[in-house]
Amino acid sequence: MGDSSLTEKMDSLASDQEVVRRYLDRAEAPEQLPEAERRQLESQIRELMRVKNARLVAHYYTESSLQDLAEDSGGFVGDSLEMARFGRDCDADILMVAGVRFMGESAKILSPDKLVLMPTLEATCSLDIACPIERFASFCDEHGDRTVVVYANTSAAVKARSDWVVTSSIALDVVEHLMERGEKILWAPDKHLGAYIRKTTGADMLLWDAACIVHEEFKARGIEDMLSMYPAAAVLAHPESPDAVLEIADVVGSTTQIINAAKQLPNQDIIVATDQGIFHKLQQLSPGKRFIIAPTAGNDATCKSCAHCPWMAMNSLQALYASLLNETNEVEVESELAEQAMLPLKRMLEFAEKSKLGVKGKA
Ligand code: 13P
Ligand code: SF4
Repeated sequence: MGDSSLTEKMDSLASDQEVVRRYLDRAEAPEQLPEAERRQLESQIRELMRVKNARLVAHYYTESSLQDLAEDSGGFVGDSLEMARFGRDCDADILMVAGVRFMGESAKILSPDKLVLMPTLEATCSLDIACPIERFASFCDEHGDRTVVVYANTSAAVKARSDWVVTSSIALDVVEHLMERGEKILWAPDKHLGAYIRKTTGADMLLWDAACIVHEEFKARGIEDMLSMYPAAAVLAHPESPDAVLEIADVVGSTTQIINAAKQLPNQDIIVATDQGIFHKLQQLSPGKRFIIAPTAGNDATCKSCAHCPWMAMNSLQALYASLLNETNEVEVESELAEQAMLPLKRMLEFAEKSKLGVKGKA
């Protein structure tokens, strides 16, 4: 790489970090409600959902009351692939998506006739922010010989420019499939997930340079120290974590794959390198086990997330209620863009339906 392109790259990385910082400054955590108020709000939401034929789809990283409400009211809690699938298949008139913006957009693209609402449209993702369509499209144009595979954590415009969309639960399988067909890949935006897939499959992959601010904080050194305190513990990690963390993990997988592995593994102690929101489901499904959050950079000024996504945390019962009552925070995707983005999304869902997806573990 020449001096000028290296400087350009450093400049764009610095500006991505600045933009992420600005979004982070606006990501305010909602007020915690007293128990009685929370229960009352939940029953009001339940009633509204019944009257309006609405269903709630929540990600594992959202607060536990949203996850419980989704499940108790005929909605769904899951990873980003399953959320997209459920949203497409359910017969509701209104889909409420508790998660981050790209999840709402995927739901809208796959269900153009449903009204898709979110508790907040401000909930974004550092990967989405750091992959703006203009720069991404030029990157693709420069490497026109490569199949473009993008992570679901991207805007509708980036998806529309891709050949395949994948989530962390299916990325390895899709890349293996493309590799068997002799295709070279352009991967965006998560560099850690991309590097993990490249290392595992040996595929020819050119990587975009962006990271998840939550997973990037996990430290291999801290996990090793923890393993000396809990020598019989298993380590489960999401593949958005850095390579050194994935190297010591017993199982690497999506949120659902982590939950399944925790149930199946014989270990009583489990160190988890992903967002803490997942502990609610982990504990529900494996009540006898002890779950320990993997250490991050620490609770000081350098810790941007401390193992909890600040954007997932913006989803609250209060905001959900207001959005459903007033039908505000509607997710809209321009129809031509939605049609283009639908193709790689459908390709992923069809591929998922054909293949049997398991946990990619090293245990
Ligand atoms: P999953 O697809 O595993 O749910 O991950 C989504 C995500 O944003 C992880 O940070
Ligand atoms: Fe994005 Fe990371 Fe938050 Fe997931 S946890 S939504 S990848 S910032």
